[in-house]
Amino acid sequence: MVLSKHIESYELEDEILKKLPKINLENNEQFIDEYDSQKMLPQYELPLKPSNDELIYKYLNQQLALDGSPTLNLASFVNTYVNDTQTRLAVENLTKNLADNDEYPSLVNIQDRCITMLSNLWHAPRTIDPKTGNKLVKSIGTATTGSSEAIMLAGLALKKRWQEQREAQGKSTAKPNILMATCAQVALEKFATYFDVENRLIPVNEQSGHVIDVSKIRENIDENTIGIFVIAGSTFTGSFEPVEEISKLLDEHEKETGLNIRIHVDGASGGFIAPFSFPNLKWDFSIDRVDSINTSGHKFGMTSVGLGWVIWKDEKLLPKKLRFSLDYLGGVEETFGLNFSRPGFPVILQYYNFLSLGKEGYAKIFDGCMSNARLLSDYLTESTYFEVLSEIHIKISEEEKAKYYTKKSSHKLNDIWTVNENYRPGLPVVAFRFSKDFRTKYPEVPQEMFSTLLRKHGFIVPNYRLPPSETDVEVLRVVVRNSMSLSLLTKLVSACSQTIELLVKSAEYVRQVFDSKSESSAQENIESIHDLLLTIASGGTAEIRKVQHKESDHDAGLNKKSYRGTC
Ligand SMILES: Cc1ncc(COP(=O)(O)O)c(C=O)c1O
Repeated sequence: MVLSKHIESYELEDEILKKLPKINLENNEQFIDEYDSQKMLPQYELPLKPSNDELIYKYLNQQLALDGSPTLNLASFVNTYVNDTQTRLAVENLTKNLADNDEYPSLVNIQDRCITMLSNLWHAPRTIDPKTGNKLVKSIGTATTGSSEAIMLAGLALKKRWQEQREAQGKSTAKPNILMATCAQVALEKFATYFDVENRLIPVNEQSGHVIDVSKIRENIDENTIGIFVIAGSTFTGSFEPVEEISKLLDEHEKETGLNIRIHVDGASGGFIAPFSFPNLKWDFSIDRVDSINTSGHKFGMTSVGLGWVIWKDEKLLPKKLRFSLDYLGGVEETFGLNFSRPGFPVILQYYNFLSLGKEGYAKIFDGCMSNARLLSDYLTESTYFEVLSEIHIKISEEEKAKYYTKKSSHKLNDIWTVNENYRPGLPVVAFRFSKDFRTKYPEVPQEMFSTLLRKHGFIVPNYRLPPSETDVEVLRVVVRNSMSLSLLTKLVSACSQTIELLVKSAEYVRQVFDSKSESSAQENIESIHDLLLTIASGGTAEIRKVQHKESDHDAGLNKKSYRGTC
């Protein structure tokens, strides 16, 4: 959450408002009220009097209209599409509190079913009920408000288990540390800071595919290491860290040192993508060293925002000290989690998705995302303006396939499910930057500007730096979610082409100005720079408009006699 700051401009607006002529308005007027003209909406103090709710709706709506369109927010991993049935379920259950076990037993039962289904999807150890054939798991887990809370809980379980072990051995518990790569999302770093655990950041680099440099893990482990966070789907490039390779390395380390370092997998996005798009990738509880996994229901679980999951494959892995038994509102309930109350409807949406989509539905949707992400990657590469850092579009040989996809399982939907395994694994994310050629030819063009100008087409594509040790590299990133249809993708591609060509034109124009600087008067330079800025601000249409006006010779611009705005 961004902490709010005092807004200086508010004072200025207040001053201007004081100078306005007063309009006499009647109280509770239906169509206009004082907030329409004379007053700003209160921002500092609760107003004394109530207001008309329709009017307040109008003002809130006006202000929220300034936000970007969620569908075009390609910066976010969080799902932005819910259908009418999901909306109906959400509205009908809007006021149910997931903490009220006793009052809403069906809701709590739905949460349990989701946990069991996720446990089975992630290959938690199970037994088959001889009578029913059901897959019974010993796992334990909870819904959370997102992956961040889930990660805090997983980290706390690692810390508590390490403390209990150390105390039993009569050893100090003063200096716990945890390992994670520098590409870790901020939630992982928050865990270390909030819960007083030293954060041992392992570098990432180009050779390691911008994820954890596995060769640097062992030197960071000691007897105070509570565990390692391994990221299945990096926020920066979408690449998966090699859970199996890390696990094998830790097996070796354990043989040599006796230290049993356990793994928590941050599958915020990968927890949903991997099982359906890369079913032969070994990353989950099928690896013995993986004790817990988190995911965000609100990302590729495709609920609305506000849902995460954390699951331990065995109930014994969640220390009793982290669980609380409460005598509460007529029942005894066990609770763990950082929050007590939380909305129940996202859990209902999760179960709805499980039932309505099934494994095949998820696989097909993600296939569409992966295919569109590859298409975008290919366009960007072939344009020669860009180079792509994410790897899901890189086709691999049979030999490499055997290296990446080590799980030997057969799937009923083999064709749909394994098409993505012809490429390197990763999230449907396209991380790219200006190509080396482009950077050499136009060093004066800031990449940030590409992102800013795409906004003019409505698309929100962030430009950010790679993590420490690679911060000199800036990347642009598009998350290809369910809401990115092929036709929207073609619009994005066309916006990218127009934007990069505009930047090229602008850069060349500035060069011309500076090349001819000695011959130009100061006034000519001012005009040229003005034209340049106007070209950029208008998204390239200013010059076209000028030409059109000249050609049609109509009265426009300063001497216009009539005005026709956008209708
Ligand atoms: C890898 C990873 N971990 C954790 C998080 C935090 O997830 P949430 O926003 O659900 O709290 C994110 C968010 O993008 C992420 O990408």
